[in-house]
Amino acid sequence: MTKIFGGGSLRKRQVVALKDFSLAIASEPPVIIAVVGESGSGKSTMARLVLGLERPSSGQVLYKGTDLARASRSERRAFRREVQAIFQDPFEVYNSFYKVDHVLTTPVAKFHLARTREEGRQLIEHALRSVGLRPEETLGRYPHQLSGGQRQRTMVARTLLLRPKIIVADEPVSMVDASLRVTVLANLLQLKEQFGISLIYITHDLATAYQISDRIIVLHGGQVVETGDPEQIVKRPEHPYTRLLISSIPQPDPAHPWGEEGPDDWAALDVAQLVKDG
Ligand SMILES: Nc1ncnc2c1ncn2[C@@H]1O[C@H](COP(=O)(O)OP(=O)(O)O)[C@@H](O)[C@H]1O
Ligand SMILES: [Mg+2]
Repeated sequence: MTKIFGGGSLRKRQVVALKDFSLAIASEPPVIIAVVGESGSGKSTMARLVLGLERPSSGQVLYKGTDLARASRSERRAFRREVQAIFQDPFEVYNSFYKVDHVLTTPVAKFHLARTREEGRQLIEHALRSVGLRPEETLGRYPHQLSGGQRQRTMVARTLLLRPKIIVADEPVSMVDASLRVTVLANLLQLKEQFGISLIYITHDLATAYQISDRIIVLHGGQVVETGDPEQIVKRPEHPYTRLLISSIPQPDPAHPWGEEGPDDWAALDVAQLVKDG
């Protein structure tokens, strides 16, 4: 699919934000597909198209074989529940006048997830615990009373409530500090491993893409320049732009630039272990 912005009037310059992008995700097994590129490469445009928030200029988004643009009301409703987004700065999602509870109770009500208030409360508490939050320290608070990481995890809990099939996560770790990054990445991996959810993980950071994804798509100027297995992309990049992205990854030990040894050391940050440990 392709997305072109502007061009309505003669003075407006056209921007081809995304060109001939194509991606298929099978319902089984769950996968994490990383879409990597620098700012302005078309990542968020791709996310908005996939989420049905914007229509492609050409091409289509098919969900379970149905073109989103032609889907019935009930198909669209199922899509909205089964394909969820996790955005960059969760703070924007919260209304500062409501307690955090609001972002959790709203989907429960909207999608009729529980028959009683008590059942709803249990669902919410369970979802919070499964992302490592204590309900008693989270519920009843206002968004600004939580840390960025807690807000981020609350959004993951909210997403879990809906039992989605696919999650589009647009730069979920770019706003959190390094110490929390591993936790959020572990949460994403947990969504796949424990809950069987596929993810489109959007990032400008090839290192985290390598750590958690099954496949990497490199976007540059709205175009896919390289796609493949993370090992292959990181160890044997074919496109000069991918090499550039790799060279900009901070190296843990400058004395041993990977290239000789491969990135194994540097990926030692054991996200998978964190998932197992809870
Ligand atoms: N609503 C819009 N109107 C006009 N141009 C847009 C719009 N959204 C994005 N763009 C342009 O499309 C290109 C890709 O943007 P975006 O998808 O946000 O990239 P990324 O998320 O990788 O930073 C950029 O040149 C951006 O300026
Ligand atoms: Mg973006």
